[in-house]
Amino acid sequence: MTSIQESLPFKLGVLRPGMAAEVIGLNLNQAIDDGLHQIILETFYKFPVLVFRDQTLDKRSQIDFSEGFGALEGHVNRDFRSDGFPAVHEVSNLDLNTGKPTAKLENRGNYHWHTDKSYLLTPSLATLLHAVTLPPEGGDTQFAHMGEAYDALSNEKKDEIASLRMVHSWEQTRIKSGSKLATAQEIEDAPPVVHPLVRTHPETGRKCLYIGTHASHAADMVRGVGEALLEELQIFATQDRFVYSHIWRPGDLVMWDNRCLLHRATESYDMAKHVRLMHRTVVRGDAPV
Ligand SMILES: [Fe+2]
Repeated sequence: MTSIQESLPFKLGVLRPGMAAEVIGLNLNQAIDDGLHQIILETFYKFPVLVFRDQTLDKRSQIDFSEGFGALEGHVNRDFRSDGFPAVHEVSNLDLNTGKPTAKLENRGNYHWHTDKSYLLTPSLATLLHAVTLPPEGGDTQFAHMGEAYDALSNEKKDEIASLRMVHSWEQTRIKSGSKLATAQEIEDAPPVVHPLVRTHPETGRKCLYIGTHASHAADMVRGVGEALLEELQIFATQDRFVYSHIWRPGDLVMWDNRCLLHRATESYDMAKHVRLMHRTVVRGDAPV
């Protein structure tokens, strides 16, 4: 760790070894040159949850920083508000009609373990979430490391799942999570896709489980058997020993790697009383292999 710190132009604090670290002393409103960008990327490969502390980014600045990692995504769910910046999704517990906080959210998917946009052929590489308004306490985001979970499987289980493919479906996610059902337009925009159950991280070469709530069943198995296998893997892979829970501070911008993590929001605050508003940008990745 010491050698990593000595070569960095910011202070790096480990939050969870091999998984999460905080970056202190870097102002993301300033232009990030190629050299610094490369240093951030290399740090990101070591810590797939990177917490940039004390940021005051407006939407334009968040887009500029995020685009340094690749093309940005829109969202299949057209309910996300954007105020002229469609690449920035406002994620909140605000009622779209009244503008007031509510515990009765139409989109429940964020509260289930998932990897962003795995219902697309080219799912998300990274997601960047900037805390704009936080409740007094709670509203943590949890991450589970799918490389660590894969490594912990028995050799027999690894052999069993090595060549399996899973169907991922936005329509199924909406049903399973008790959310407002997908519209015909959303289903047309995001038809079911198939991804390997075990994917290899393109930068680190690490094998990772690729599961989560968008996965519905195995493409090559009897449906009930494939669903049971998915459930078994999901319970195994989200044990506390693989999880980092992020307690948000004002100004945090958290960037995470969807290729090797599951994540979920938690309802650990009074959602009918307090506002939690985050600005999200999503960097498109490659098809998992
Ligand atoms: Fe998400």
